[in-house]
Amino acid sequence: MLAMSARMALLGTESAFEVLARAKALQAAGRSIINLGIGQPDFPTPPHIVEAGRKALADGHHGYTPANGILPLREAVAADLHRRHRVAVSPDQVLVVPGGKVTMFFAILMFGEPGAEILYPNPGFPIYESVIRFSGATPVPIALHEAKGFSFSAEEVLAKITPATRLIIVNSPANPTGGVVPKAEFDALVKGLERHPHVAILSDEIYGEILYDGARHTSLLAYPAIQDRLILLDGWSKTYAMTGWRLGYGIWPKALFPFAERLAINCHSCVNAAAQYAGIAALEGPHEPLQRMVAAFAERRKLITAGLNALPGFRCAMPGGAFYAFPNVAGTGIDTRRLEAQLLDEVGVAVISGTSFGAYGEGYLRFSYAASRAEIEEALARIGAWLARRNAGA
Ligand SMILES: Cc1ncc(COP(=O)(O)O)c(C=O)c1O
Repeated sequence: MLAMSARMALLGTESAFEVLARAKALQAAGRSIINLGIGQPDFPTPPHIVEAGRKALADGHHGYTPANGILPLREAVAADLHRRHRVAVSPDQVLVVPGGKVTMFFAILMFGEPGAEILYPNPGFPIYESVIRFSGATPVPIALHEAKGFSFSAEEVLAKITPATRLIIVNSPANPTGGVVPKAEFDALVKGLERHPHVAILSDEIYGEILYDGARHTSLLAYPAIQDRLILLDGWSKTYAMTGWRLGYGIWPKALFPFAERLAINCHSCVNAAAQYAGIAALEGPHEPLQRMVAAFAERRKLITAGLNALPGFRCAMPGGAFYAFPNVAGTGIDTRRLEAQLLDEVGVAVISGTSFGAYGEGYLRFSYAASRAEIEEALARIGAWLARRNAGA
């Protein structure tokens, strides 16, 4: 009998990948499946970015790079953050990593251990809770409220801080809700954190460029009072349709940076060199492909929200960012895990149960609208017909 560490039993997963595998298996068996499950843009990586990656390979960039990333890429990240948020970040604070997830893994491992408490959004990206448990720390959920556009209440967050709290994780715009935290709520959180200097903050801003109705992204980088304890998570996956390139970055406070870099050296050494060159091209632009993609998401957002609200038992808030709709489906009276399975098996539509994003996701489903209008229309029609048959008792 092999003896794994007890910690392994604590590790959760991201069920979007399981639903994706099941949807692919059904497709391979000849079924027509519309995949609104996995969270990735349905657009290809813009050609000038692909070309920069191809050129890097042709030019011989085949070896290791510095563990923290090549300097021109880190400089491009600093310039991009300045362009977007008017903040000065040193390229020495940028740790380039293979995907957005790695920054969260490192930040949670850095602060999590038995006895420590880590606050995280619920419903939220499932890897937060999974890695918090894996680290041995206690996960303390921050409830997100449908009535507040799926924001948290700063007052509620601050009330959960104890002497054992080490880290607070926030995510806006958010997966799975599409919620955007209002600036006033962040202002109140930052103000309140002055009373808790022992608490670090991980701000997951991976959807920061995917916002609607002319809204501007509030980055926690713009709050000088917390810069010595803020870890910013961002990357290329969503903004530039680069999920498969595995490229992300963290901005780390100077005191934490050497530890994060050491984790990188122990874990992956450095990021694929060609992907890093592609990352420079992405940040330097042109940015029109990104603008076109967000404009397409904005259209689909209206289509899917209206369509979901027309389904019996569904109620869907208008998402403010990212590319997810998170309808409340409690009115159908069907348990959401069961609904997820039935929609895939009987209707041929892959979506994710809200409970995959934490206990407070009960009663909700996540629909990714990073899919064509035709697919969204077909999915809504199929679900509508299925619910009508079901409600008629057929
Ligand atoms: C909120 C959030 N953070 C981080 C990530 C991870 O992104 P990446 O694919 O770059 O690791 C995702 C991906 O779905 C996400 O939704």
